[in-house]
Amino acid sequence: MADEFTVKIEGFATPGCGIARVDGQVVFVEGACPEDVVKIAITKKNKSYANAKVVEIIEPSSHRVKPFCAMQKVCGACQLQFIDYDYQLELKRQIVQDAMRNIGGLDILVNEVIKSPEILEYRHKIQYPVSQTKVSKRILAGYYKTGSHELVNIKHCPIQPKICDEIIDFIREKAFEFGVLGYNEKKHSGDLRHVVIRNSALNGKNLVVLVVNASDVNKNIKKLADAIFEHFAEVSGVCVNFNTKKTNVIQGNISKCVAGRDFVVEKILGKSFKIGANTFFQVNPKSAENIFKYVKDYISSNFKKPTVLDAYAGITAFGICVSEVCEKVVSVEENTQSCIMAEDCLKENVIDNVEINNMDAGEFFAKEKRKFDAIILDPPRKGCTKESLDNALKLSKGKIIYVSCNPATLARDLKYLAEKGARVESVQPFDMFCHTYHVENVAILSLI
Ligand SMILES: C[S@@+](CC[C@H](N)C(=O)[O-])C[C@H]1O[C@@H](n2cnc3c(N)ncnc32)[C@H](O)[C@@H]1O
Repeated sequence: MADEFTVKIEGFATPGCGIARVDGQVVFVEGACPEDVVKIAITKKNKSYANAKVVEIIEPSSHRVKPFCAMQKVCGACQLQFIDYDYQLELKRQIVQDAMRNIGGLDILVNEVIKSPEILEYRHKIQYPVSQTKVSKRILAGYYKTGSHELVNIKHCPIQPKICDEIIDFIREKAFEFGVLGYNEKKHSGDLRHVVIRNSALNGKNLVVLVVNASDVNKNIKKLADAIFEHFAEVSGVCVNFNTKKTNVIQGNISKCVAGRDFVVEKILGKSFKIGANTFFQVNPKSAENIFKYVKDYISSNFKKPTVLDAYAGITAFGICVSEVCEKVVSVEENTQSCIMAEDCLKENVIDNVEINNMDAGEFFAKEKRKFDAIILDPPRKGCTKESLDNALKLSKGKIIYVSCNPATLARDLKYLAEKGARVESVQPFDMFCHTYHVENVAILSLI
């Protein structure tokens, strides 16, 4: 293959690449949109495909729009922002459809993607890696450039509430003033590794989490935490999370609240939830509310007071949202802080038909004797083990509702369940992560 070609983009694939063909070989073109005619340069040749970047747009696709973010050329986060929103949704639907067909071997028409209620300032959890400049030691915080660990110092991110920019800016300035060192990933040295902010879509309050390369709170970090808490009326608390491992995992297992409260409150379908430093909660609460409603409506229109298992439950958000249309909900979650927050939610919302089990889902499945009318599975990106899927089939009387943020592992697991006799009734995508190639899905399976 020579190095430069002019091609027409024919399709789209994860991770947000246009697809073209050169001499019959597939080329994934970064930053290209279907219908574009572009000059591309090959960046990598593989056995059965190649990667390329756009050198020149010769005829732009009618779906191209002006990117909304000044940092779009350097920040790797919102890969699809140069494509109009409605077409982004269609491309995401196609990504899910392709996964169902090519990985899942399933002949099912994926539904149209349900829009996010907000497409800017929608992201209520931010996680910025922190480092510092070599010479002046100024603090840097932002996202990594695509495919690298080169940090882009982001002053304004349009997909996050504006207050997050202000808090991060304050941290940059005060951390430097108080002698807090930004993390050096290569040398595994420095103090501050990440800043995580949980912003409440309900009331705009923020929980700030300072992830440190230490097992205790040093005096400079404490000074920084106090300064953040005193300066911002919108900050309800500051926690320090300890992570001394050489790892890409952002947070360690232990956090300590050093100022204010260790949670923010979110409200979904009329139920209030506490979200802490180490608890999972969907990053886009308004889009998540659509998903919880979809699942609740499905359960209420298909069952009369069923028993439901909410597995990989986090703070039992699904379980609590569906509890009023259920006889009994049982949840299982391995993260202890999530289970504590879930118990608090039950008290706060006066709910007495939800049982919370703080344990590994696999272990729970293996020992559980009760059967459930419906099982909600919402595992991490890697999906479920075959053993967990076998057990879910054993424990379900009729329906499995599989929620997933990864179309590839969802398709793999649906294939396995279908081979065991389950029928995939529907796959419904939701736009939880606007302007990125990520997409959340709810698949409904029937065992009868
Ligand atoms: C994608 S989140 C879903 C959380 C929740 N359903 C929600 O919507 O807020 C996955 C959850 O599974 C939990 N988890 C991961 N592995 C687990 C396991 N082996 N057993 C139980 N829970 C697990 C994580 O702690 C996380 O809370």
